[in-house]
Formats: sequence, C-alpha cells, structure tokens
Amino acid sequence: MRQKLVAGNWKLNGSLAMTRELIGGIRAGMGEVGAAEVAVCPPYVYLPLAQGLLEGSAIRLGAQDVCDHDSGAFTGEVSAPMLEEVGCHYVIVGHSERRSLYGDTDELVARKFEAAQRGGLVPILCVGELLEEREQGITEQVVGRQLDAVLERVGAAAFARAVVAYEPVWAIGTGRTATPDQAEAVHVFIRERLRALDPGVADGLRILYGGSVKGGNAAELFAQPNIDGGLIGGASLQADEFLTICRAAG
Ligand code: 13P
Repeated sequence: MRQKLVAGNWKLNGSLAMTRELIGGIRAGMGEVGAAEVAVCPPYVYLPLAQGLLEGSAIRLGAQDVCDHDSGAFTGEVSAPMLEEVGCHYVIVGHSERRSLYGDTDELVARKFEAAQRGGLVPILCVGELLEEREQGITEQVVGRQLDAVLERVGAAAFARAVVAYEPVWAIGTGRTATPDQAEAVHVFIRERLRALDPGVADGLRILYGGSVKGGNAAELFAQPNIDGGLIGGASLQADEFLTICRAAG
C-alpha cells in the first residue's frame, strides 16, 4: 500500500508573515488529515523559518528546485546539502515552469535529480505535456522522454527514493483539471514504464497528480488506483483549502 502524499508548491509566493500563518494553520488542522503524508515547499529564503515552525509535527519540508552541483562558483544557486541542512526532505525537480521559463532541459533535470539524492533528499520529479502535445496525441512520447532522461542517468533503482508528479502543463494554474480518467491513464503509463525495468520499484513508486487540484476535485482524483496524492499550487496557499485536499487523501 502506497501512503498518499500531498505536497504544497508555494511557487513565488509568501512572506515571513504568510509562512508563519500558513504553516500555523496547516499544523492546527493536521489532526483531521488521517493517513496522508503532508509536505510544504516554500521559497528558499523561508525554509529555515519553516523548519522551526514545523518542528515536532509530521509535516515534511521541501524545496522547489536545486542546483546540479554541491558547491562552488555557481552564483545564485542553492545545493542539496544546503537544503538538507535546513531540514528539507523533498525537492521538486523539473517543474514545468523551470523547464519552460528557465531553460531546464531533460538532461539538467536528470543531473538535479541525481544531485538531490546525492545530498540525501527525495526528488519529486515533475513531468507533463503541453496542450499542443496532447492535441497532437504525443503525451506518452513527451512524458516517456522526460522520464527516460532521468532513468538513463540514475537507473530504475533510484526511483525507490523518489516521487514522480504528473503535471499536464495545460492544467497548471488554469482551473482546467485533467479528468480522473485522463490523469489515471498517464499515471499507468508512467508506472508501466518503470515496471518494465524494475517491478518492485514500480509498485512502490508514488505518482502524484498536479494541475488545478482543489478541495472540490481532489477526492475523485485520489480515488484512482494509480494517483497517489497531489502536488498543489494555488490551493496550497490557503490552509483551509489545502487541508481539505489533505483530508481527501487521508
Ligand atoms: P496549480 O495547482 O496552481 O494549478 O499548480 C500546480 C503546480 O504547478 C504544482 O506544482
């Protein structure tokens, strides 16, 4: 049985005050969440504050990106050992906003995945197709290519310490969610891709869905056999809404 995971990706949102308020609100509601694992991924600068606020709770901390190098002359970057030191358990790699706006290629994402694990973090690898790719019928080709780039670098066994998030780009921040059937079909595709290489790892791998998940649609998505939780953007910025999603997973 895979434990469901709900992770909040705050993206470029927050402040010191909001970090205190939001984490306080989530902590206060954790008693009702049940069996789901919960994580928050604030911007880098709020991670040390968040680490303190989360102390003694079961909520895990994650970062939104990581450098592919551990240290050195890489101005502006943040490394996996640094994230580990400030209490991160997870780190998102290959988010579509990184891929489309900041030039993260499949190869760079694979190196970031490897760097995350080298630093003791659990990568949350994001994959997903653009609207025109879905319309062209090449969703599986795109997602397969994104997965293979990482598999070729680290091997299937590395996915025993990783999470995958399927985030169709057309569903991110648009209010247009993939239907449970659409999402489930891609999740099955991802799991089968892994199963061909390592059945045990494939069965244990948590595959999250991301893209306009809200309190009102989370339960039907999480009811699918291969949807093991969610990566939540906008709806993770309000404690009540985020907790409703966590309860749907619990
Ligand atoms: P939204 O939930 O705002 O659509 O964002 C999804 C996402 O990109 C999470 O990483």
